[in-house]
Amino acid sequence: MRSSLRVAGIFGLLAGTGSAITVDFNSDDSIKDAASTTAFGLLKYYTGNNTGDVPGNLPDPYFWWEAGAMFGTMIDYWFLTGDTTYNDVTSQALLHQAGDDRDFMPTNQTRTEGNDDQGFWAMAAMTAAENNFPNPPADQPQWLALAQATFNEYVERWDTATCGGGLRWQIFTFNNGFNYKNSISNGCFFNIASRLARFTGNQTYADWAEKVYDWMTDTNLISSDFRVYDGAGVDSGCKEIDKAQWTYNAGIFLHGSAVMYNYTGGNTTWKARVEGLLNETSTYHFDNGIMVEKPCEDGGFCDTDQQSFKGYLARWMAGTAQMAPFTFDTVMPLLKSTATAAAEMCNGSPSAAEFKGISGTACGFQWTISLQNDGLVGVGEQMNALSAIMYTLVQKTAAEGKAPVTADTGGTSQGDPNAGAGIETKMPVVEPISMGEKVAAGFVTTAIAFSLLGACFFVVK
Ligand SMILES: *[C@@H]1O[C@H](CO)[C@@H](O)[C@H](O)[C@H]1NC(C)=O
Ligand SMILES: *[C@@H]1O[C@H](CO)[C@@H](O)[C@H](O)[C@H]1NC(C)=O
Ligand SMILES: *[C@@H]1O[C@H](CO)[C@@H](O)[C@H](O)[C@H]1NC(C)=O
Ligand SMILES: *[C@@H]1O[C@H](CO)[C@@H](O)[C@H](O)[C@H]1NC(C)=O
Ligand SMILES: *[C@@H]1O[C@H](CO)[C@@H](O)[C@H](O)[C@H]1NC(C)=O
Ligand SMILES: *[C@@H]1O[C@H](CO)[C@@H](O)[C@H](O)[C@H]1NC(C)=O
Repeated sequence: MRSSLRVAGIFGLLAGTGSAITVDFNSDDSIKDAASTTAFGLLKYYTGNNTGDVPGNLPDPYFWWEAGAMFGTMIDYWFLTGDTTYNDVTSQALLHQAGDDRDFMPTNQTRTEGNDDQGFWAMAAMTAAENNFPNPPADQPQWLALAQATFNEYVERWDTATCGGGLRWQIFTFNNGFNYKNSISNGCFFNIASRLARFTGNQTYADWAEKVYDWMTDTNLISSDFRVYDGAGVDSGCKEIDKAQWTYNAGIFLHGSAVMYNYTGGNTTWKARVEGLLNETSTYHFDNGIMVEKPCEDGGFCDTDQQSFKGYLARWMAGTAQMAPFTFDTVMPLLKSTATAAAEMCNGSPSAAEFKGISGTACGFQWTISLQNDGLVGVGEQMNALSAIMYTLVQKTAAEGKAPVTADTGGTSQGDPNAGAGIETKMPVVEPISMGEKVAAGFVTTAIAFSLLGACFFVVK
């Protein structure tokens, strides 16, 4: 509540509206109200449930993966708030995009889908299993099996021919970025493997999580001081590293490590990794307690994908606080100060073409510039703010609140250890893609973007 009235007042002067999102972070009801308003604005971007549209897709300029990330967020939204409003569109989207082989490899996405893109949908399915999100009818794909299908395909794609292992960014040779091994793709593998180990108790998944983590440190994509870098090109044997540090790369390894810590009943090696990653996260990715996307935010050149990354760090920090409760008292103050700043920026009133939520509640991107909404709006901004706000509802222990379940503690989702196995990476025949189109379709940073922009990141800073 500290300054939200002030925000509303000043915004009213500037733009002739008194609206903004006000939150009392000591009241669960107030947090849920704010989350509800923010979620409403987010889902107004979704057109996949309109007659004639394709369930699961967001309109341009949002790529397919971001819709997967959004539905993952909405499963947690339901879990944390109890609001079932968006459950039906969420189920419909996940089941439609599971595709013919029930593995989140729909043929329509061949030109845009990398290992990371598939991973964001698979992590949404994993979250559905852990949260006991309503199970689909028996003849439909099941949440746990969808995550297992993705895991099994990652195992098949593990590439020891270059860099001593690791997943490549791209699945298909013809997509730009096939020669790049990136942290987010390997992070998806690590995160899903750790969570499958915890959910099913099957050690094979834990062994793979360990293997991915070891490969990350062997290649120095996770440094000895726990910086998580973007990726490296296979032509250099992964020796030339793009050292940009994105919020979501830190988050995905932090959370997976916390899950491993939990799965092993408090193993000290995993505990040290959680501590190191959290320490680096809380120093590098925050300014005065407010989360910042360091490689691009201050310069104002985060792209559409990058404008959504902070929300995932909030998600994975909250998950860390649950899986490794010893971190709770470090994580929660950072989430709350970030959420306070984020909610203050949900005071924009762009045109109806840009924002169809409640007028005066459009969320901006930059949270560190007190009171001056930066005017950026969209799925990323809305999802970041929703995440920052709603993940403050996470409780310290299972006894105090709801924690993600496992098969032994009430999880009901049906698995299939062989899902996705033996499905050869489909190699559809497509026309070669122009370089412009490839870059446009690229997710996150590309090896090319790095060689052009990498230098700029550091010169600018
Ligand atoms: C699609 O879902 C959104 C968000 O729940 C809702 O506002 C809209 O009315 C729905 N449209 C249809 C056609 O069901
Ligand atoms: C693929 O695209 C076609 C044509 O737009 C659409 O009918 C179908 O539902 C899409 N499938 C998926 C899985 O998105
Ligand atoms: C694992 O997570 C559960 C649920 O939050 C928690 O109760 C338990 O204490 C955690 N285990 C360890 C070793 O911290
Ligand atoms: C803890 O985990 C590490 C990494 O997997 C492993 O090497 C070590 O043996 C484990 N320690 C114990 C006591 O199980
Ligand atoms: C925490 O991170 C800071 C900055 O990187 C580093 O100087 C410090 O040694 C780290 N502390 C621990 C306990 O890892
Ligand atoms: C454990 O997972 C592995 C890898 O998917 C699978 O081959 C094996 O059958 C699983 N074991 C059990 C008991 O489900």
